[in-house]
Amino acid sequence: MQREQWNSRTGFILAAVGSAIGLGNIWRFPYMAYENGGGAFFIPYLFAMLSAGIPFMIMEFSLGHKYRGAAPKVFAKLGQSIGLRLEWLGWFQVFIAAVIAVYYVAIIGWAMSYLVFSVTQSWGADTNEFFFKSYLQLGDNSPTKLGDFQFHIALPMTLAWAITSLAVYSGVKAGIERASKIMMPLLFIMVLLLIGRIIMLPGALEGLDYLFRPDFSKILDAKVWSAAYGQIFFTLSVGFAIMIAYSSYLPEKSDINNNAFMTVLINCGFSILGGIMIFAVLGYMAAEQSKPITEVVTSGVGLAFVTIPAAINLLPIPYILGPLFFLALVVAGLSSHISIIEAVVSAVIDKVNISRKKAALLVCGLGYVTSLAFSTNGGLLLLDLVDYFINNVALLTSCLIELLIMGWLFKLANVREYVNHCSEFNVGQWLVICLRFISPVMLAGILFKNLINTIQNGYGDYPVADQLFLGWGLIAVMLFCAIFIGLVSNLHLPEERKP
Ligand code: ALA
Repeated sequence: MQREQWNSRTGFILAAVGSAIGLGNIWRFPYMAYENGGGAFFIPYLFAMLSAGIPFMIMEFSLGHKYRGAAPKVFAKLGQSIGLRLEWLGWFQVFIAAVIAVYYVAIIGWAMSYLVFSVTQSWGADTNEFFFKSYLQLGDNSPTKLGDFQFHIALPMTLAWAITSLAVYSGVKAGIERASKIMMPLLFIMVLLLIGRIIMLPGALEGLDYLFRPDFSKILDAKVWSAAYGQIFFTLSVGFAIMIAYSSYLPEKSDINNNAFMTVLINCGFSILGGIMIFAVLGYMAAEQSKPITEVVTSGVGLAFVTIPAAINLLPIPYILGPLFFLALVVAGLSSHISIIEAVVSAVIDKVNISRKKAALLVCGLGYVTSLAFSTNGGLLLLDLVDYFINNVALLTSCLIELLIMGWLFKLANVREYVNHCSEFNVGQWLVICLRFISPVMLAGILFKNLINTIQNGYGDYPVADQLFLGWGLIAVMLFCAIFIGLVSNLHLPEERKP
């Protein structure tokens, strides 16, 4: 079967940028920057972008382009050349994508509900009470005591799945590329409109001052570096099979270096826009309520679904700015969700040799049923626990193993030669130095710290049994299944492209 291809270079870049820009840019990045030293966070963040983000992106684009397969096929082929079985690593990455996909869609579903609520601000004055008690109906639950199924949460999630399935089902050109060409320009326009209006409000500039004012005392804190690296891998969608799958649809003549730089820079630039948008709103809110900004900032889910709705209540024309914000969140989330599912679908197509349509229906069907666990009273708790272990343990482990394999078992000089041959401008020796030394050292340190911390203290107040089962247990099962599937070797390994 002929591998599908992107229709145009712009189409590919928009799809890659669509994957990278997601929920992580709009609510994860701003709070992280604020919590980890404000303006000073940009130093570790830029360092992580340059030393890990761009080199990793170039490497994954080159792998997809050269071996023309999803992650399992790429690693199987790489392993073949040195007599090692590495397909399991590809499957491990695919499982990470699959797990992220099933909880990520829950947040998109909430954002869809909030898009509707925002028209009349039906969340009322107490947005905290509304989110936890009226919307999620969270009671005496835990990640394993999920409570009842909530139809009103499942409904928007079903719509999100329908959109993702349609895009992936329709194929690379007719589905994913077309969706990205609509979604990305729309997203940028919406965010720029929001910033343009909000920045004029009283207090907005003080909000930005908070975000950008550097607290250099934090720069020596290992936690800040860990946050910066963790954020870079998640936000760039690298290390969990996505960018390999997307770049496997590149035509022979493709400028890898340029594409990688553009994807990373547009994504990180957008994160800064996300930060400006959120902190301008928070600054305004603080000014309106005559409170210090530190009292209005919240983290993660609370930021998007508690604080922002409260801020929208205070905005002028809230019935326009509110829906605009939540529509931006939905669009950013959907374009990433499509890519996360595509990473899984393309691996299934490679392995069992079924049509895209069948693979898409199979993956989305299973994903949909699994994600219903998140439309329960305790769905948020399940999401929080799984997200912590997947991001802080599984994803970083996968990135580190990939780096060690590429940096120490293969000649990275060949990767450099390959990408330079494909590209208009050349990358220097720094690519090799970053991938071989700087990134693995930083990642190993961060992962080690995360592991020790999680083993000693666990995560949050969740019962230990839940953490063993849904955290460590889940990762162990993913690893076991990855090794098992990797051993059932029926992958057709294509001829690689020569530089
Ligand atoms: N890269 C995507 C995000 O930041 C997954 O949300």
